[in-house]
Amino acid sequence: MRQVMVAGNWKMNGSSESVKELIAGIKDGMASVTKAEVVVCPPAVYIPRVSGMADGSAIKVGSQNVCDEDKGAFTGEISADMLKDVGCEYAIVGHSERRALYGESDELVAKRFAAARRNGIKPIFCIGETLEEREAGVTNDVCARQIDAVIDLEGVAALADGVIAYEPVWAIGTGKVATPEQAQDVHAFIRGKIAALDAGVAEGLRILYGGSMNPGNAKELIGQADIDGGLIGGASLKAEDFLAICQVAE
Ligand code: PGA
Repeated sequence: MRQVMVAGNWKMNGSSESVKELIAGIKDGMASVTKAEVVVCPPAVYIPRVSGMADGSAIKVGSQNVCDEDKGAFTGEISADMLKDVGCEYAIVGHSERRALYGESDELVAKRFAAARRNGIKPIFCIGETLEEREAGVTNDVCARQIDAVIDLEGVAALADGVIAYEPVWAIGTGKVATPEQAQDVHAFIRGKIAALDAGVAEGLRILYGGSMNPGNAKELIGQADIDGGLIGGASLKAEDFLAICQVAE
């Protein structure tokens, strides 16, 4: 049985004050979350504070990105080792906003995945198609290509050290959620593709859905056979909504 995981991607939102309030609110409600693994991914500057506050609770902390290099002259970057040093267990890699707005290629994302992994940080590896790609009927091809970049670099077994987040780009921040069938189809494709290389890795691998997941649609989405949780953007900024999604696994 794969444990449900709910991860909050706070993106570039918050302040010292609001972050304190949000993490306190989530912590308060954690008694009602006994099944799901709960992760929050704050903006990097707030990670130490959030880690400190989450300490002693079941809330785990992740970053929104990680450098593909381990140390040195890489101005503006943060290494996996540094993230571990301030309490991160996870790192999002390849989020579509990084790919689209900051030009991160499949190859660079794969290198970030590798850097996280070799330093003991679990990658939350994001993949997904744009609206044009969906309409052109190449959703599965796009997901396969993005996954292959990691498999080519690290081998299929490496996937077992992280989780995949399938996030159709057209559903992110748009309020337009994939139907449970649409999402399940792609999740099943992803698991099947990996199973063709390694059935054990595919069986154990958690594949999260992301894209306008909220308390109203989470139960049906996470109820699908191959959907093992969610990567939550907008709805992770309100403790009550985030907790409600975490509770769907109860
Ligand atoms: P959303 O974002 O829930 O606001 O659509 C999801 C994500 O980008 O991970």
